[in-house]
Amino acid sequence: MYKEIIRPVLDRLDSEKFHDLARESLHLAELSPLTLKLVELFADGGKRFSDQRLRVNLGGVELENPLIVGAGWDKAGRAVMALWKLGFAGVEVGSVLEYRQPGNPKPRQFMVAPGTAINWLGFNSPGMDVVAKNLSRYKNPPFKLGISIGMNRDVPHDDSPRAHAVVAERLYGYADYFAINVSSPNTPGLRKLHEKGRKKDIVQAVIDAMERKGGRKPLFVKVAPELGHKELDDILEVAIEHSVTGIIAANTADVPEMKAKYGERWRTQPGGLSGDDQDYRRMTTEKVAYIYRHAGDKLDIIGVGGIKDAETALEKIKAGAKALQIVTAIRGEGTAVAGKINKGIVEFMEREGVKSIGEIVGVDSGK
Ligand SMILES: Cc1cc2nc3c(=O)[nH]c(=O)nc-3n(C[C@H](O)[C@H](O)[C@H](O)COP(=O)(O)O)c2cc1C
Repeated sequence: MYKEIIRPVLDRLDSEKFHDLARESLHLAELSPLTLKLVELFADGGKRFSDQRLRVNLGGVELENPLIVGAGWDKAGRAVMALWKLGFAGVEVGSVLEYRQPGNPKPRQFMVAPGTAINWLGFNSPGMDVVAKNLSRYKNPPFKLGISIGMNRDVPHDDSPRAHAVVAERLYGYADYFAINVSSPNTPGLRKLHEKGRKKDIVQAVIDAMERKGGRKPLFVKVAPELGHKELDDILEVAIEHSVTGIIAANTADVPEMKAKYGERWRTQPGGLSGDDQDYRRMTTEKVAYIYRHAGDKLDIIGVGGIKDAETALEKIKAGAKALQIVTAIRGEGTAVAGKINKGIVEFMEREGVKSIGEIVGVDSGK
């Protein structure tokens, strides 16, 4: 029903407005136990799905299933509990910046086809203090919380280690893990931070900030899907050298030919493509497999890019991902997406005699 009736209506709305409405509805539902319970009706089959066989250990973070809402869906920590009710094991909140930033001029988020998006948000964030306040509402939550750390656009690059560290320090108490995001295509010059020296300094500064607050938490680095092997090797080297927990592969793709498939006018639209595009999905799966082949014994991989059903989820796991993130398919497939994927994975496990997800991580990576 979602795809036939609701989505065609939603697809006519401004994409960002629709997104804000969806997130704020979930936020409002969190305000009372009764309405929060009602959120569950929007999960697959009207009930949150859970199964012991879906458990994964992601660099020390015990997830009850492999599905995390990826960064960008809830940038400020407004609806984490409601997203858990829909069947996700956790949410990566953010990217969170040191101080408020409005982002790029609107419109800046577009559904170019059902389930496929281009966004040019440009790191809109209310800033870390507001996010801290939002997250402080959750006491002993059942979900796992990742915090994606970004950087304000007017921070000089020499100051980038401090700008990342300060967010880690401020939100330390709320995070089950941190992610460093220097792979967004939407902040001019940001991807320069992919360079080896800079990355080293940022990673070290975040680690130092965590040590100051009482100890290390799992730390991930998120990469861009267009990175060549040499650049990716550099990042893997820095990650391993600093005992980083793992890599999130990958961010949105800023590839003109990919965007132009949806109409010539999108070729020059700044921003990154995500969601249900075969080339994009394949590109991100190949990155996961490459990382697994070269560093799978030392780094845990979170696979993200075009996951929308059990088949595309299993593709990423078999390429080497221990956990998965989903953003665009929450719009494309609807609120039941997590339950559907988790049930599909369990069905696959029963059919193939697989006892735990760990057994199939990387089996198709070519290692
Ligand atoms: C509207 C939107 C906003 C996003 N914002 C962020 C962000 O702030 N930080 C980040 O690391 N990734 C961000 N992403 C990238 C997603 O986390 C993810 O890497 C990408 O969308 C691919 O996953 P998908 O195909 O499931 O959407 C954003 C994606 C979208 C669509």
